[in-house]
Amino acid sequence: MKRAFLLFLIAGSAAAAGITGNWVVTQDMHDGAMRRTYLDLKQDGAQITGHIRATQFYYTISGSTGGPDSFTLIASMMDGNNERKVTYEVRLQGDELHVSTRRNATAPVTESIAHRAPAGEGAYPKRIDIPALHKVEWNGLAKTPPMGWNSWNKFAGRVDDAGVRAMADAMASNGMKDAGYQYINIDDTWQAEMRDAEGRIQANRKFPDMKALADYVHGKGLKLGIYSSPGPNTCAGYEGSYGHEEQDARTYATWGIDYLKYDWCGARNIYRDDEMQAVYQKMGDALAKSGRAIVFSLCQYGRDEVWKWGPDVGGNLWRTTGDIRDTWDSMSKIGFDQDRLASWAGPGHWNDPDMLEIGNGGMTDTEDRTHMSLWAMLAAPLLAGNDLSSMPKPTLEILTNRDVIAVDQDALGKQGRRIWQSGDTEVWVRDLSGGAQAVAIFNRGARDANVTVSWKDLGINKAPKNARDLWLHRDIPVAKEGFSGNVSGHGTVMLRVSR
Ligand code: GLA
Repeated sequence: MKRAFLLFLIAGSAAAAGITGNWVVTQDMHDGAMRRTYLDLKQDGAQITGHIRATQFYYTISGSTGGPDSFTLIASMMDGNNERKVTYEVRLQGDELHVSTRRNATAPVTESIAHRAPAGEGAYPKRIDIPALHKVEWNGLAKTPPMGWNSWNKFAGRVDDAGVRAMADAMASNGMKDAGYQYINIDDTWQAEMRDAEGRIQANRKFPDMKALADYVHGKGLKLGIYSSPGPNTCAGYEGSYGHEEQDARTYATWGIDYLKYDWCGARNIYRDDEMQAVYQKMGDALAKSGRAIVFSLCQYGRDEVWKWGPDVGGNLWRTTGDIRDTWDSMSKIGFDQDRLASWAGPGHWNDPDMLEIGNGGMTDTEDRTHMSLWAMLAAPLLAGNDLSSMPKPTLEILTNRDVIAVDQDALGKQGRRIWQSGDTEVWVRDLSGGAQAVAIFNRGARDANVTVSWKDLGINKAPKNARDLWLHRDIPVAKEGFSGNVSGHGTVMLRVSR
């Protein structure tokens, strides 16, 4: 009797509140973690105000239409200098809030049901002030661009312990390790939803024992990398390092982690782009204090001219662009746009035009060869992004081309530059140690092209004595005047020339 009355009271007050209240959509990620989206809403007649927190984003409701129990909400936020806007449709049905949204105009609509949550649950963390700037000493790592594998491009949220072990097994036995590949990097979605009672980060069900996994990978003569964000959440909405930087760095060190990719993501809701340096410095300091040598990989999509301050925060590499996709357009647009950044790369600190898509199926072998050649000319990190345990022979041959890898890994650490261009063809030259040079003749057009270019136009004043074709693996005759030859559509001829 008493109970029924109480229930009546609760139901009554909920109905009276209308849409006002804190609502949560819970999505099971099937790894022990739940992804929660919070809609903290206030209904005032026909107007809704409040906030929506979804994965890495925290929106303020800037407009609403409709009523009395069905609304279209415009949710917006500043992301660096750009405004990001999303539309949500919400409809109150009994004590459920039916929510539908799409990430952008062309994305499919996602429909979900929100339930009432206690007030304050999921509230966005308060801003922690940034430290004053200082220089973080170089950790002595990445004298040449890091080489390895990363889980994201192929596996995204499907990365797990068994998969990582399989990649380590493959790398150690298929010739990649011998060719110089070393890091096995776990990207986003490894984190548990909750930190432990002491605030320590924990892995989710997909990674039952991180230390054991690191031991396994080390046992293969390889190194293990991990991923986090300076924000409260990663890009996929998992737990970030916000306010736990030193603790997380110590945890990584205890596990035996050798590489950290640190992805801006959720930090965009708290800090401005011109505060990034201080925010990254915090983790740079934390890693330096962790007692373990850990490569520090900055991932903030090339914002705030990161190449100018990346080394000062202890960064060994920094992404220069948004995410690569497995298409010729994406890869070539990113790669051929890197010329302007050449002067910022050097031993210990590299421009990172993003991970490789070689072997993921979206490009032909010819295009994959261009991808590999271009990244080598750029002194870019070579992080394979495909399934190493089952790849066709040509893919493995591309990834393990030692002549091309030697260019990428050249000790001088000087990034190549575009020296000559005519229509769809362009020639890049990279100075190598010992006075040699790498010359890459790229054909960005779809059709084969005959390219003739003089040594002089390439800034090579005397005809080289020797020219080795790095894809045919043999010396080719050197013409006195210059290079002349056929380059297939989307293809590359890559040479090492020496006097
Ligand atoms: C961002 C990064 C990607 C990847 C994903 C993971 O988009 O740029 O490389 O790490 O996050 O969520």
